[in-house]
Amino acid sequence: MNRTFIMCKPDAVERGLVGEIVSRIERKGLRLVALELREVEVALAEAHYEEHAEKPFFGELVTFLTRSPVVAMVVEGPDENTWHLMRTLIGKTKVDDAQPGSIRGDFATTTNENLVHGSDGPESAAREIGLWFPGLA
Ligand code: RTP
Ligand code: MG
Repeated sequence: MNRTFIMCKPDAVERGLVGEIVSRIERKGLRLVALELREVEVALAEAHYEEHAEKPFFGELVTFLTRSPVVAMVVEGPDENTWHLMRTLIGKTKVDDAQPGSIRGDFATTTNENLVHGSDGPESAAREIGLWFPGLA
């Protein structure tokens, strides 16, 4: 799987950071295969974050993701590590751990509103691409 699913979350669109994020992806040498600005239904948000269904912050996650439009993307690289390259560009989950130079490290001040989602492995990349872009699966 040379492809991964990436999303500019509502905070990124609201703050006008989509161009910055897409630019970083392209400058890295990765290629956009699909890109769509869209409103997210509750059912899609729940399916997207199904691995977190039992977590205490699940409700907040769904509310956040459905707050305003997101930019959903499929990104492709030359090798099977595309998902991992993107996770490095995005930065660590916890805001205090996100290194400067990463998207979260440079632009996020909270863990909840951390701008970008990236698939966390080849299986989740395949699942999420199928969920968001069924025509590509
Ligand atoms: P994402 O799925 O959005 O790319 O984020 P991630 O892999 O870095 O982190 P994940 O563990 O999948 O968590 C999903 C989102 O839930 C929020 N979160 N809050 N309060 C907490 O301890 C906590 N842990 C995670 C974050 O907004 C995270 O992006
Ligand atoms: Mg995750």
